[in-house]
Amino acid sequence: MTKTVKADAKSIERAAEILRSGGIVAFPTETVYGLGADALNPVACARVFEAKNRPSFDPLIVHISRRAELDTLAAAVPPLARSLAERFWPGPLTLVFDKKDIVPDIVTAGLSTVAVRMPAHPVALALIEKTGRPIAAPSANLFGYISPTRAAHVAAQLGGAVDMILDGGECAVGLESTILRIDGERVLLLRPGGLAIEEIEKLTGGIDDASGPSPGPRAPGQTLSHYSPRTPLRIIADAAGSARPPGSVGLLAFREPRQSAGFAHVEVLSPSGDLREAAARLFFCLHELDSRGLDIILVEPVPEHGLGRAIMNRLRRAESASVNR
Ligand code: TXA
Ligand code: MG
Repeated sequence: MTKTVKADAKSIERAAEILRSGGIVAFPTETVYGLGADALNPVACARVFEAKNRPSFDPLIVHISRRAELDTLAAAVPPLARSLAERFWPGPLTLVFDKKDIVPDIVTAGLSTVAVRMPAHPVALALIEKTGRPIAAPSANLFGYISPTRAAHVAAQLGGAVDMILDGGECAVGLESTILRIDGERVLLLRPGGLAIEEIEKLTGGIDDASGPSPGPRAPGQTLSHYSPRTPLRIIADAAGSARPPGSVGLLAFREPRQSAGFAHVEVLSPSGDLREAAARLFFCLHELDSRGLDIILVEPVPEHGLGRAIMNRLRRAESASVNR
């Protein structure tokens, strides 16, 4: 029996029943597909870690459908965080708060803080609403592998381990949410993502970048080996124009490459050089390249402003993982 079901009122209702009875459901958000469980049910959340092969030190994001739900999860909401939620929710922004006791330890991996976001996808919002609980959901991929931006990506990686996959088409943003922690007046960036830093800074002023790899719990889950295809990957300026390594070589180009002869497979992030389009297509292109049995993938860097920062963050992690293998 296929577990992938087109998302409509009926299937969302069924998915909500599954979640209420402790099951796990993959669902679309505007960023990437999530693998959801009732955030207040620790056993259901444990199944999420199990399905993903996710180390238990890596905490989950809790998804809500109304801003008021935040106060049931967060012990305190700093005024600046409240303003950010007002401005950017629903949307690709996750905020980290001191948690209330109602949030199970397994969700936060034992941290005293909880990450919360309100997704901007009608299917995700309807699912949370129908379930009547907040939904804990990491990206619906195997641990360390590329995040899914289509239902087929989820089915290929986790098909056997989930109770249902709601198919809501392609994810419009295509990168995971930007994660911030507000500490008094300071704004800490824990993960660059689908909401550009420049947009946030208009409201907050300067942001401190705490998104580098750190061994401590400050930015858990930010191990360098995230987001990696199985094929080795190298970032090279002018990859299309430089000497080719031996074997079957793939190219991930930012714009339409000047020359692509000799590459076994080429994916273009955005022919016109638009960073939003590039972000939306990044994981799809990596999935495509990784499925071709190539020896190596050469990647052209993208400009590091707007969503380009988050794109390069994911690409560097992918490169670093393949160097360390
Ligand atoms: O866009 C997204 O954020 C997607 C969709 C499904 O919402 N979710 C997602 O979840 O990317 P995941 O599990 O792949 O990444 C969640 C990350 C963790 O790896 C960790 O870095 C951070 O969120 N996180 C979660 N709870 C945290 C906490 N209490 N303190 C600091 N970071 C936290
Ligand atoms: Mg993830």
